[in-house]
Amino acid sequence: MSSVFEAAIDSFLSPIKTLLDDEKVSEIMINGPQEIFAEKGGLVFRTDCAFSDEESLVSAMRAIAQSVGRVIDNDNPRLDARLPNGSRIHVVLPPMAKNGTTVAIRKFSKDDLTLKDLINFGSLSPDGARFLDICVYLGKNILVSGGTGSGKTTMLNVLGGRIPKTQRLLIIEDAAELQIAAEHVVNFETRKADPARGVTEVTIRDLVISAMRLRPDRIIVGEVRGEEALDLVQVMNTGHDGSMGTVHANNPVDACTRLETLCLMGETKIPPDAMRKMVGSAMQIIVQCSRYHDGGRRTSHISEILGTDSNGNYISRDIYRWVQTGKDPETGRYQGEMVPCGYVPSFFEDIIVNKLPFPKSKFVPPEWAKPLLIKKVA
Ligand SMILES: Nc1ncnc2c1ncn2[C@@H]1O[C@H](COP(=O)(O)OP(=O)(O)O)[C@@H](O)[C@H]1O
Ligand SMILES: [Mg+2]
Repeated sequence: MSSVFEAAIDSFLSPIKTLLDDEKVSEIMINGPQEIFAEKGGLVFRTDCAFSDEESLVSAMRAIAQSVGRVIDNDNPRLDARLPNGSRIHVVLPPMAKNGTTVAIRKFSKDDLTLKDLINFGSLSPDGARFLDICVYLGKNILVSGGTGSGKTTMLNVLGGRIPKTQRLLIIEDAAELQIAAEHVVNFETRKADPARGVTEVTIRDLVISAMRLRPDRIIVGEVRGEEALDLVQVMNTGHDGSMGTVHANNPVDACTRLETLCLMGETKIPPDAMRKMVGSAMQIIVQCSRYHDGGRRTSHISEILGTDSNGNYISRDIYRWVQTGKDPETGRYQGEMVPCGYVPSFFEDIIVNKLPFPKSKFVPPEWAKPLLIKKVA
């Protein structure tokens, strides 16, 4: 990107410069020129930053759109773009946005997180992390599920970084965001249509089809939110083991149901019950990311999907789960930890055959956690 654009954007965004520069701020939310919120350490608070008026806020957004060859105006009132430093930005203009120009900036995290960091954040237990590492090593198909901002992309990045170095990864995203630390990586990004300039759309679906022809060992779809779900399920069912993606859902069974719904959105002749079976057999491990009310992001479940039962329901078995034991009276932070649930995964033999040092005892819950595990989390 030219530095002319960069300088223009910098000056237009000067009212929120302190937030952009503060590495602890992970997200900035602008609800019209005078109301700006930020997120720090998982907590959202109102800042005293403000743009002088609606016009200067819109000008900033116009400069950002221009820098990526797009327009934001009455005819194109929404914008999805990235800032020069990689942060992701989404904008909606009035009159759709009732508060005035509404913006969210998801800051680009500079440091590559690792499994160790997730353990330190309390998002995974050391055994939970090692188990996920084993799943990646063994080429299990993994779906990372969670709500917006729950840490899905971060988790996918971390897991992707554990893929054996000799393998070729094809990564497909709407807006390139993943930064998987691997040796042999090919990145694809979709393109939006712009009929005025004769630019046609290239969808995730198109790119998954291309990816299949480009000799992948593993295919990673950053965010599955449309018909491409069916392609990913087919990829997973046709021998590209160890493929991964993220989906927006609240628990592991929901993740399967969501994927199934997305698969059925396209023009397909596959009947719903057959589709359900396909999803059930494609999915192996679901990693559920959750954002708790105390602001903490934790891996709430690591579950195995065992297909569907005779009634057509997904069979999901929790392998690890985060359980809450209390609440710190001073900080309000939840106390708890990730514990095994007493279920030995169906592929335990693979762990033995591959001589991975992970004994069966790692799946046995501690005594104190047993009563907490019976309580089913919603
Ligand atoms: N386990 C975690 N602990 C603390 N912060 C996290 C954790 N996982 C992710 N984050 C931070 O939360 C924000 C949102 O994460 P992201 O992975 O982009 O969420 P999603 O893809 O689900 O929308 C980022 O700023 C990221 O650095
Ligand atoms: Mg994401």
